[in-house]
Amino acid sequence: MAGNVTFTMIKPDAVKDNHIGGITKMMEEAGFRVVAMKKTRLSEERAGKFYEVHKERPFYGDLVNYMSSGPIVAMILEKDNAVLDFRKLIGATNPAQAEEGTIRKIYAKSVEANAVHGSDSDENAQIEGDFFFSADERF
Ligand code: PPS
Repeated sequence: MAGNVTFTMIKPDAVKDNHIGGITKMMEEAGFRVVAMKKTRLSEERAGKFYEVHKERPFYGDLVNYMSSGPIVAMILEKDNAVLDFRKLIGATNPAQAEEGTIRKIYAKSVEANAVHGSDSDENAQIEGDFFFSADERF
């Protein structure tokens, strides 16, 4: 399955603003299949662990606070070329730079509240999917 799955989270603002359906619809219409899906809330400790690779970056504390500030929706998505195609669908990290028609252009409010996360490599897609889902939660 390597190369065919990616991992995403719908971030706290987008969940709070009732955009779970709109965002998931864009993913499905772009050809992604939902393999696993869960609404949950990250503790500060778990958010810190998830974003550990960014530990040295200046925004790490803000990012961890934000991602633990409310519920998120975690998903594993399947499609050929999933990681790269999904990053195209979500658009640039900073919504001011995101292309028209991308999920972040439509739903992101700022570089922090940027609506969705998307894995940056096949390896991280596996690691991140495993962080949230056991084998019997994937179909
Ligand atoms: S990327 O695509 O991984 O290269 O993006 P990057 O710019 O490295 O950002 C990594 C994650 O950090 C978030 N981010 C921020 N959060 C809060 N404040 C600021 N200034 C900020 N800049 C970047 C960004 O949304 C990425 O989160 P994820 O969940 O991976 O999308």
